[in-house]
Amino acid sequence: MTIVVVGGGGREHAIIKKLKENATVDTVYCLPGNGGIAFDAICVPEIKATDLEGVTAFAVEHQADLVVVAPDDPLAAGMVDALEAAGIRAFGPNAAAARIEASKVFSKNLMKKYRIPTARYEVFEDAAAAIAYIEEQNEFPTVIKADGLALGKGVLIPESLEEAKAAVREIMEDKKFGASGNRVVVEQFLRGPEVSVLAFTDGKTVKPMVSSMDHKRALDGDKGLNTGGMGTVAPNPYYTPAVAERCMEEIFLPTIRAMQAEGCPFKGCLYFGLMLTEKGPMVIEYNCRFGDPETQVVLPLMKSDLLAAMNATIDGTLAETEVTFSDGAATCVVLASGGYPEAYEKGIPMFGFNADGNVDGATVYHAGDARKDGQLVTAGGRVLGVTATADTLAEAVKAAYAATEQISFEGLHKRTDIGQRALQATV
Ligand code: AMP
Ligand code: GLY
Repeated sequence: MTIVVVGGGGREHAIIKKLKENATVDTVYCLPGNGGIAFDAICVPEIKATDLEGVTAFAVEHQADLVVVAPDDPLAAGMVDALEAAGIRAFGPNAAAARIEASKVFSKNLMKKYRIPTARYEVFEDAAAAIAYIEEQNEFPTVIKADGLALGKGVLIPESLEEAKAAVREIMEDKKFGASGNRVVVEQFLRGPEVSVLAFTDGKTVKPMVSSMDHKRALDGDKGLNTGGMGTVAPNPYYTPAVAERCMEEIFLPTIRAMQAEGCPFKGCLYFGLMLTEKGPMVIEYNCRFGDPETQVVLPLMKSDLLAAMNATIDGTLAETEVTFSDGAATCVVLASGGYPEAYEKGIPMFGFNADGNVDGATVYHAGDARKDGQLVTAGGRVLGVTATADTLAEAVKAAYAATEQISFEGLHKRTDIGQRALQATV
């Protein structure tokens, strides 16, 4: 069977490695892929993840049995619609369902209409009105979100009215995030531990995967700038069975039903970004896809077959399909380029990998690298994700960090405290 995975980061690498555990999968292409994904798939650097026509033509030409669309932008642009129109089986939501991530206004209005717990908010199309509202609320910090996709950077959390005014102007007038900032959501700042839950859903049934915890800030102690994620652990100790039950009743099922009622049932992997507040679990954000780097700790713990879960998601048979996870724990430590998330150099040679691209005691998910004359070199901000699994979280953290010591490149930056908050929560 031939599978095409669209994307080229650590998440896509994790999806590919898991799919390949199924013996019927013999050929995997990754469009575009990257230097390290090439250990596990045939990469096609000429076809970008956002190239709807290119991906569709490739899938038709290579008679793909399944195309997995992993990143948000092609999903929002309708890649799954295009593939289906060409008669290709595709995993991921169509454009209408992908709005749950692609428009914050859509998702906030959905939550309000269907009474799904989330931060109180207002939508503005005009900077002066947004500022007047913030002044009137006079609650800081406050949260300002650009409506559209903004590479995970469209959320600003000003601490004062001055900062809030500057933030609104940056988004709405200077268009820091382009057309994404034509509308903004201003919402209440919530407090509490954050939990990421990825879930398979076929539009009717929802099967959550093991929970996880991201570490978004660049530096230890949650300091520094926001990044795409510097590391993850699974499971998330704050997500107890009681919390999980509540999330299922108050958030997951109502969301699936809401999307159905709106005429855009969600089929694919739905990512619930949750905050466990004093008033109960609330939705911070939805993503219409697997999280990155959450996938790099969630899929290694998956016991049941990923291909079967994806097929059931497409076929609407999730209710009858087993989706199970091991009782162990996983930790992913991201190795980033010096300077990330701001400017960084590319093309720096990297050393220490085994012949299969991994290191002893851990799996390496290649996120932003390339090959230059056979040598792996850096090619992105987040370069590698080093994941170890173990019976306990403490062991997984230790093993992941020990494994990172085998890899070296100039300027390598990693956080040294991935998993510490989770470990403190378990004592
Ligand atoms: P997002 O891009 O929606 O994931 O938001 C990025 C980060 O901003 C989240 O992971 C939260 O840490 C934070 N955030 C977003 N919305 C809120 C909120 N209403 N209250 C507190 N923090 C928030
Ligand atoms: N790690 C957060 C995300 O994938 O959006």
